[in-house]
Amino acid sequence: MKSTMIALVAAASLVAAGTVLAASGADLANAKGCGTCHAADAKKVGPSWKDVAAKNKDNKGASEKVVTMLKDGKGHPKVAASDAELKALAAFALAGGK
Ligand code: HEC
Repeated sequence: MKSTMIALVAAASLVAAGTVLAASGADLANAKGCGTCHAADAKKVGPSWKDVAAKNKDNKGASEKVVTMLKDGKGHPKVAASDAELKALAAFALAGGK
């Protein structure tokens, strides 16, 4: 019985780890609805990820700026996500949607 429990817990944590990996970049942006206003290389309501990457490429603090902007909703629609998710979203956007 005890070993069954251990196996179940181990399996559950594997699934959880997979979820974290899958929830990076494009998947996360999809899940959070970024695609409503952003596309990889076409302007929609907001700039394309390509433009975002180009505009911020010399800004070392860009990731922090974007995280704060999404978190506080300053100059941008507020995004409900964890800090880790916001960091992943910022990295994805600043890499030009990759
Ligand atoms: C309702 C529309 C909308 C949604 C949804 C949206 N954005 Fe935006 N986003 C905008 C607009 C508009 C701008 C341009 C703001 C400006 O330049 O003042 C923008 C700009 C940005 C920028 C550029 C910031 C900069 O200073 O270069 C990033 C990065 C960004 N959005 C990320 C995201 C992410 C990640 C998501 C999803 C979690 C998201 N956005 C969802 C409308 C949206």
